[in-house]
Amino acid sequence: MNKKFWLGRYTSLKKNGIVGSMSYGDEFQERVDIFFAEMKHELKISKCSTLVDFGCGTGKYAKLLKEHFKPKKYIGLDIIDFVIEDNKNKLPGFDFKVYDGTIPKCDVIFLASLFQHMDDKEVVTTLKKMKTSLSKDGKLFIIDFIGKAANNSYTYYRDVKEHGQLITQSGFSGKVAYMNNNDIAVMECTK
Ligand SMILES: C[S@@+](CC[C@H](N)C(=O)[O-])C[C@H]1O[C@@H](n2cnc3c(N)ncnc32)[C@H](O)[C@@H]1O
Repeated sequence: MNKKFWLGRYTSLKKNGIVGSMSYGDEFQERVDIFFAEMKHELKISKCSTLVDFGCGTGKYAKLLKEHFKPKKYIGLDIIDFVIEDNKNKLPGFDFKVYDGTIPKCDVIFLASLFQHMDDKEVVTTLKKMKTSLSKDGKLFIIDFIGKAANNSYTYYRDVKEHGQLITQSGFSGKVAYMNNNDIAVMECTK
């Protein structure tokens, strides 16, 4: 668990008054729009009752996830309580909860830029937990970095093969569905 790291990071952002900042650049918005449209199609997600945005941070993807996947319920989970509180104030109509180790039952789990901060063991433990929370035909999709930069205690870069191995080891079948300049991959996984 890297809570200390995230607490420090968000505390310093808060001091500078930017935790709540949610501005998308146009380019970012366009890229995510493409990712999500492709994911919805590739993963054949037609109906979604509950979607979990795991490690949602400042809720940057919440609105776009709702627009694309139209879940009856969106739940954003994160370990940092004041970020969750901030999201609740800023995004009424979305459900945000502090992650207490329980992932609610759901049909879709989305996670962005999370595994790059977890070692292999934590990735596999987290994926296995997700598997038990997903419905029978549930789907998982992941946006993460691809690469081979130097690892340090908070950043783990994995190549496509390494990402694939962790996904398989956790009992999912998955593939890299989209890559952007060889640095960002979108992985789709089914049980
Ligand atoms: C790089 S941020 C990404 C936030 C958001 N997904 C985004 O892309 O804007 C990683 C987030 O994951 C959260 N996090 C880290 N470890 C976690 C864990 N074990 N369970 C749930 N959230 C976690 C952090 O607090 C942080 O908000």
